[in-house]
Amino acid sequence: MRKKIVAANWKMNMTQAESARFIESLLLDLGDITDVEVVIVPPFTAIAKVTEALGKAQNIKVGAQNMYWERSGAFTGEISAALLRDLFVHYVVLGHSERRILFGETDEIVNRKVRAAHEATLRPIVCVGETLEQRDRGNVEKILSIQLRGSLKDLSEKELQETVIAYEPVWAIGTGRNATPEQAQEAHTFIRHTLREIADDATAERVRIQYGGSVKPENARELMSQPDIDGALVGGASLDPRSFAEIVKAARAEVA
Ligand code: 13P
Repeated sequence: MRKKIVAANWKMNMTQAESARFIESLLLDLGDITDVEVVIVPPFTAIAKVTEALGKAQNIKVGAQNMYWERSGAFTGEISAALLRDLFVHYVVLGHSERRILFGETDEIVNRKVRAAHEATLRPIVCVGETLEQRDRGNVEKILSIQLRGSLKDLSEKELQETVIAYEPVWAIGTGRNATPEQAQEAHTFIRHTLREIADDATAERVRIQYGGSVKPENARELMSQPDIDGALVGGASLDPRSFAEIVKAARAEVA
């Protein structure tokens, strides 16, 4: 049984003060939840504030939105896995479509980062997903297969099991147009099938696959009731503590 994982990707939003208020409000609503894994992914500048505000609520984990693969050195403007671990960060989102499209990240770059994250015992959340044009051309499986095989190259079975995959169709991100539960389930089934080919059945069964793209309190439960949807990676709706808490509760309802 895979534990559901719901993450708040704040992207380039949230000051320190806003972050602290958010966590205070989330804790009042959820408490230190244990049946669903909750991850807050603030901008780098608010990571320490979020950790401080979480205090003893140690079941809620903190993530980062990116990192560089080198361990240390002359890489102005970059952050290493070790520097993130120093801030008590547990997860790192890698290969988000915004990084792939706006900042030119390739599968090879994503793969270097994924391997560096594992080396530092940071758990990667690896994002994959097709554009609308690729979907319209019938290339969803081809694109997912290329992205998965490229981004997850040379990982051990243990590392794969500790990797979270996020299926985020680009056309669903920030558009208000989520994939239907059937469309998402179909993509997740394919992703798990590909993981079986990359590794083996047991490994593929253990990897958690989140759905991301216009997840809201109104659609979260139906999406997460699908057999291969193991959680959500939430953008816009994660900026409001009440709507994010509703999405976490939708995951919890699927556990119960
Ligand atoms: P939205 O929830 O705003 O569509 O963003 C999804 C996303 O990109 C999460 O990483």
